[in-house]
Amino acid sequence: MADRTAKIAVCGAGSVGSTVAYAALLRGLAGEIVLFDIATSLVNAQAIDLNDGAAFAPPTTIVGSDDPAACAGADIVVMTAGARQRPGQTRLDLAEENVGITRSVLGAVREVAPDAIYLVITNPCDVLTYAAIGFLDLPPGRVFGSGTVLDTARLRYLLSQRLHVSTRSVHALVAGEHGDSEIVLWSSANIGGVPLGAYDVEGRSIDPSEYDAIRETVANSAYKVIEGKGATNYAIGLATADIMSAVLRDEHRFLPVSTLFTGQYGISDVCLSAPCVVRRAGVAGPAELPLDGTDLAGLQASAQTLRKQIDLLGL
Ligand code: LAC
Repeated sequence: MADRTAKIAVCGAGSVGSTVAYAALLRGLAGEIVLFDIATSLVNAQAIDLNDGAAFAPPTTIVGSDDPAACAGADIVVMTAGARQRPGQTRLDLAEENVGITRSVLGAVREVAPDAIYLVITNPCDVLTYAAIGFLDLPPGRVFGSGTVLDTARLRYLLSQRLHVSTRSVHALVAGEHGDSEIVLWSSANIGGVPLGAYDVEGRSIDPSEYDAIRETVANSAYKVIEGKGATNYAIGLATADIMSAVLRDEHRFLPVSTLFTGQYGISDVCLSAPCVVRRAGVAGPAELPLDGTDLAGLQASAQTLRKQIDLLGL
């Protein structure tokens, strides 16, 4: 049931933001969900449409507003506003435009929600998380990005289909950039505790020669969806609701969210994803998994890709 005291503020009422609100509503994550967007008619229409379904969801107050003051006292603020990828565009291509939008939106909301957890979804998620940590000036762990939570879900789905097992039994992680340089941590992947390389049930197994193709499929999934319908929204909405559940319900769950590395895996001063503990106080980590040389080199290469973008933007 909804936690009557929790308040979620979603910045951006486009397809991603409205789906985040919808997923949070269905899961009964909060007593109040505010959608904030400067597009007045859009944000009001989204709120009406969500409230019209109230009878079918846990009791939740849904508010739409073009005024950041509506986010006052939020427990968690989700940033989804910004330009979105057009077909063929990479997430990093959006960096310059979306850094400015993120700074102005979250800067305004922080004035009224100084105690919130800030969750960055807008792309490029890792670069914007790094920027937000810089200008929000909040205790460590209170600002983080959705990172590769969605990519990890894509990988788990793909492996579950191949091996005919539940996604709940697929323990495999995507780490690094939420984007083209992301990597799969194959060295720690397992199926219900059985190392992936040793898993072979009813003739179903994954050969290491397939690893690169699987990674490509996962990393390119968003491009395929964008090509077909202009944007992704359902999977990121569900992933964001899951992260919010870990925060609002203090679940202390391990999730590969994007946070500031301070020397872990030999990486510093850049945001990217590796397993972190997500709970009501925000994020702790990243934890250091025992990686083989290939995975560690891939993670460090991904960090360098992001660091280059951060330097280009002068963040
Ligand atoms: C995706 C967007 C959220 O991967 O970057 O669907």
